Amino acid sequence: KQSIKLGLMGFGTVGTGVVRIIQAHQEDLQKQTGLSIEVSRILVQDAEKSRNLSSMEGALTTDPANLLDDPEIEVIVEVIGGIHPAKEYILGALERGKHVVTANKDLMALHGAEILAKAQEKGCDVFYEASVAGGIPILRALVEGFSSDRIAKMMGIVNGTTNYIMTKMSQEGAEYSEVLKEAQALGYAEQDPTSDVEGFDAARKMAILATLGFRVPMKLEDVDVKGISSVSREDIAYGKQLGYEIKLLGLARRDEEAIEVSVQPTLVPKSHPLASVNGVFNAVYVHGEAVGETMFYGPGAGELPTATAVVSDLVTVVKNRKLGVNGRGMVAPYKEKVLKEDSE
Ligand code: NAP
Ligand code: HSE
Repeated sequence: KQSIKLGLMGFGTVGTGVVRIIQAHQEDLQKQTGLSIEVSRILVQDAEKSRNLSSMEGALTTDPANLLDDPEIEVIVEVIGGIHPAKEYILGALERGKHVVTANKDLMALHGAEILAKAQEKGCDVFYEASVAGGIPILRALVEGFSSDRIAKMMGIVNGTTNYIMTKMSQEGAEYSEVLKEAQALGYAEQDPTSDVEGFDAARKMAILATLGFRVPMKLEDVDVKGISSVSREDIAYGKQLGYEIKLLGLARRDEEAIEVSVQPTLVPKSHPLASVNGVFNAVYVHGEAVGETMFYGPGAGELPTATAVVSDLVTVVKNRKLGVNGRGMVAPYKEKVLKEDSE
């Protein structure tokens, strides 16, 4: 078989980027996997809407059954967002033995355990690299790169929209509501930007980082959250006079007794590298007991950066399929059941 067919759910900012990257990098993708990746059907809400990629119009559908019940579609990419109906579509795909790639942090932070358990049961892959820090391959780094170490602390900027807003307020004295509109127009913000500005999006990402980094399922309700909506231009200007930038920082740390995860606006000294992380960029410090301090930096949102993470996950799914090892990746912290089976 020369190609692998995927069903794309969602054709907004990220979905459009996914198609663009598959089209632009097809040859490189094929070199790595031995197969061409074909976007077979695309699920949208409004079939009449005009699209940036008009060449894909023939693939559009508003009926999820056209993707879920097509036996030729082996992989579903979910970039709709939110909990419902994304959760039902993902579980439906897994039930039918299809692999899943998603960028959905809301869903993975809240229902990751259930989704990954279903994937295990069905021998399917679920990858979600794009759910945290956009184009930075941080989840893979935690699961694979630090597998030999014990992570003690992770800290950083994991929401592009709020960092974009705070940067413009700090550097240009811009008005909060105006910059939020800009971030929405650039495709950085969530459909309901309250998630961004109240810190919930960052909290979901920190819960995912803590789960994968500390190898313990982390409950979202245990994350302390405070957003940026109460931070004024005056606060930012005053902080600057004293030598600080205000950043929405996520922190996850553990000691012998407890794990603590929080998101809050924080005064960062200008001399600290996180103070220079500007615009839509994200940065995450990972402190391992053996390795010491490492820092990951890159675009945290936006069409192409986010889509690179999605398509890299797709490449892994296709490689796994070739090796016959689907269903074994990125599940470790969620998988009491699987650990039991592995040890049997
Ligand atoms: P978006 O631009 O709002 O696109 C959402 C797409 O989903 C649209 O094509 C929409 O259809 C479709 N859709 C929405 N509800 C649907 C439903 N009930 N049935 C079928 N289709 C539906 O969103 P996005 O920015 O691409 O984000 C998608 C996901 O990626 C979210 O989970 C988000 O958190 C995550 N993410 C986004 C970024 C980013 O920079 N944007 C970065 C990392 C992760 P129509 O086009 O017909 O309206
Ligand atoms: N709304 C999110 C952000 C998208 O601004 O970081 C990337 O996850």
